[in-house]
Amino acid sequence: MRDSTEPESLDAYFQNQVSRLEKALEDFLPRPSQNLTQIHEAMRYSVLSGGKRIRPLLCLAVCDMLGGDGKEALIPACAIELIHCYSLIHDDLPCLDNDEYRRGQLACHKKFGEAIALLAGDALLTLAFQVVGTLKNSGKAQRILSELSQAAGTFGMVGGQVMELILEKNELDLPMLDAIHIQKTGQLIKTSCLCGAIVAEAKGDIESRVLKFGEYLGFAFQIVDDILDGNGYLRFMSAHEAREKASEIITKAKRELEGFKNNSHMLQMADFILSRGAEKESHT
Ligand code: FPP
Ligand code: MG
Repeated sequence: MRDSTEPESLDAYFQNQVSRLEKALEDFLPRPSQNLTQIHEAMRYSVLSGGKRIRPLLCLAVCDMLGGDGKEALIPACAIELIHCYSLIHDDLPCLDNDEYRRGQLACHKKFGEAIALLAGDALLTLAFQVVGTLKNSGKAQRILSELSQAAGTFGMVGGQVMELILEKNELDLPMLDAIHIQKTGQLIKTSCLCGAIVAEAKGDIESRVLKFGEYLGFAFQIVDDILDGNGYLRFMSAHEAREKASEIITKAKRELEGFKNNSHMLQMADFILSRGAEKESHT
């Protein structure tokens, strides 16, 4: 399968945010110790292995755009990336996608064995909620815990994965595919934006617009991901048509942020999501 050594075209602001995020992740992750060497190594291997960090960057950039505390936003940003990394470990297992490589290196179960990979995924999910518990503001912690667990559970990522599993390929139509993607990938991306807004104490219309932005972004992300993987939407349309569809959705996303001061990083992220792989396609 495609590995994710993909272009790094986000600017210095995002590179700086990635450094802050990775330092915080490193601090939250347990170190190899005595009987727990292997599982802690597996957790660190899977989290500290690159990746685009799109979800936590969205949380941090939304919080920044709304004038919130960037240090506080690092907490949900780390939790989100831990949940994402758990899902990648489990997704690669033989009982699901059976992939041998992830982010350009051996998948966790190929390096540490299936049992440790399964448990490392479980431990990352659990750690995510422990991390949210370190927020000093208990109201924000409660709301973020509730939103993140919904996005990760059966009405979010897990549910989308189950729908994909049980639907025979020949039964699948476009509305079903949209529904699967909205749950499997869209919910966590949308919730990443929402968490940044919660930290910044956004209310009413501002929170709704950020949520709508995140919803569009999650949808467009998955369409572009399918173009890069050569599956999903490409069962129903050409790569060109799929990119047109993603482009329309990104335009709608950006419209939601019109009138926000300091929205340039968010708009840049929207363009980045749309442009992944586009250069390669135009040369093929
Ligand atoms: C790549 O993200 C990952 C996806 C497009 C999400 C796919 C959904 C799952 C793996 C959910 C599976 C659910 C369970 C519970 C097993 P990315 O391109 O952002 O990856 P990166 O972090 O490596 O950049
Ligand atoms: Mg999969």
